Amino acid sequence: MSDLIERSADILATARYAVALTGAGISVESGIPPFRGPGGLWEKIDPMKYAHIDAFLDDPETVWNVLIKNMKTVLDTAQPNPGHIALVDLERLGILKTVITQNVDGLHQMAGNGDVLEFHGNFAWQSCLDCSRRIETALVDLTRIPPRCSCGGILRPDCVFFGEMIPHEALIRSQHVSASCDAMLVIGTSAMVQPAATMPFIAKDNGAVIIEINPEPTPLTSRISDLPLLGDAGSIMPRLVKAIRRRIPPPSQPITPPPMTKHRKAHDTIA
Ligand code: OAD
Repeated sequence: MSDLIERSADILATARYAVALTGAGISVESGIPPFRGPGGLWEKIDPMKYAHIDAFLDDPETVWNVLIKNMKTVLDTAQPNPGHIALVDLERLGILKTVITQNVDGLHQMAGNGDVLEFHGNFAWQSCLDCSRRIETALVDLTRIPPRCSCGGILRPDCVFFGEMIPHEALIRSQHVSASCDAMLVIGTSAMVQPAATMPFIAKDNGAVIIEINPEPTPLTSRISDLPLLGDAGSIMPRLVKAIRRRIPPPSQPITPPPMTKHRKAHDTIA
């Protein structure tokens, strides 16, 4: 593992344009359960019954009760973890340019990343099905389910349900940055859901090095991952940032002039 981290650090320290694709796994250490695998949400509920747009439109009350209300409880208090913070460090080092995330939890923005493409929308806002007015999720009154807009229309989260389109700008920009990057970090995604799972293939086809961080192998691992780092994002990512920092010279110290004495004038040159 140490060797793979060192090799990944070599790649990232010299990358011209690195991009990250993240999935539910990066937020697991923030207390948000994933969708697949042990403890995954889709092991408890059927996504086609509760996370498809047709299911929501047929019976919004049930979808609010079974899925959305619980999501609000979990997401309301979630905080970024060391995996998210490491991505901010990489951005501040000038290495990471964009985060493409399938997550709707807003934790990358809360941590401080500047360019976050929300592939599946976000949970921070709700829209009225009737008048399209938008309301912050934090301000939604849950005493009545489904919650309603002041016009009486039913509210829905600004997340992508199954059966809906990916937000146009997020899709186009994600394809663009994936095709432009020279290194892609693929963190905490099972890579099972399209079209998000296509992004690493676009990157690879355009010559990028694929660095994958996940405790489990995924369909990408044997096919296109150059550097599979098997482990949790919250422990691997800070180790990776530390290894990169060792390769980047610290910014040079500003030259402080010696204190002026009555014998030295401000325009004296320093030999
Ligand atoms: P998944 O739940 O499918 O996959 C989560 C991945 O994270 C798995 O591969 C885990 O092995 C990995 N994982 C678990 N803990 C981790 C940790 N601490 N650090 C790193 N990785 C960890 O989540 P996504 O791939 O994001 O879409 O799912 C994609 C989409 O499917 C979601 O955006 C959602 C879902 O249905 C919609 O609802 C439209």
